[in-house]
Amino acid sequence: MAGATVGDDVLGDDPTVIELQNRLASILDKEAGLFVASGTMCNATAIRAQTEPGDEIVTEGHSHIYIYEGGGYAALSGVSVALVPGRMGIMDPSDVAKAIRKGDGSLGHYPNGSMVCVENTSNRGGGTCYSLETLDSIAAVAREKDCTAHIDGARIFNAAVATGQEVARMARDYDSVSICLSKGLGAPVGSVLVGSSEMIARAYRWRKMFGGGMRQAGIIAAAGLHALENHIDRLSEDHARARRLAEALESMSAFTVDLRQVQTNMVYVECEEGGAEDLVLRLSGHGVDTLTIDDSSIRAVTHLHITDEDIDRTIAAFEASQ
Ligand SMILES: Cc1ncc(COP(=O)(O)O)c(C=O)c1O
Repeated sequence: MAGATVGDDVLGDDPTVIELQNRLASILDKEAGLFVASGTMCNATAIRAQTEPGDEIVTEGHSHIYIYEGGGYAALSGVSVALVPGRMGIMDPSDVAKAIRKGDGSLGHYPNGSMVCVENTSNRGGGTCYSLETLDSIAAVAREKDCTAHIDGARIFNAAVATGQEVARMARDYDSVSICLSKGLGAPVGSVLVGSSEMIARAYRWRKMFGGGMRQAGIIAAAGLHALENHIDRLSEDHARARRLAEALESMSAFTVDLRQVQTNMVYVECEEGGAEDLVLRLSGHGVDTLTIDDSSIRAVTHLHITDEDIDRTIAAFEASQ
């Protein structure tokens, strides 16, 4: 990062940012890419560039776009949201079809469903992965109903490593994909939106209006390039560690883990009703950081900096916190 060649990315001439954008566009087999500050900004620019105020987006009921992005779809893009029930976070194509409402033919009653957003892996689903067949079917439903199709691929490389599918193949029928370089890939910051040159040109303008134009951004883009070169294949280690942790926790009487959900680097742990906050505190006393999800569940995540010894320590910390 210290040695990165930089320019001015607001003017579009930072060579390291350009290299990162082109690299991800090429990996995903899309025309162009846009470097942004966060996964949230990536989804926000994707939605703003592909909808009009009064449109409606369609997404899973526990998706990050719906739950964790501050209602940005409404505030920044002026769109409403139609929620689809998921099974472990995974939407069924027929449910997506049912959720798409079109303005035309509704005597002006409905908003115009114009964008379908699929999260892969699904965070609140437990880090679950879409099958290629389901991804293709949802994109086909979107096309049939004249909607754009977007993948919130914050962890798309985890999905690729877990399922053995190429990211480009997963994204083949999708208009846009947001990819996080932080999270499991280990870069400190940054996400990239990929899609057609025309869509990315619109997103570039929205990024500026959202205050996301960064000047010598090559310093952080360099970390993204390093992550792509060195940290994709090793995601399988994170998955194996999450699996080991999940199996150990499921065997403890105080905790329940739905092992079917543990497909990548996340472990959602159920504890006694009302006990989540206290459990997070007790674990933190043992040097283990976890996240409260609701009253009776917490989340643990494995990533670049978590070793086998950390997993041993984490299992011991859960044992001591029962
Ligand atoms: C599925 C998904 N999309 C988007 C994001 C947003 O990323 P950021 O925290 O960089 O805004 C997250 C963050 O956890 C996520 O899990």
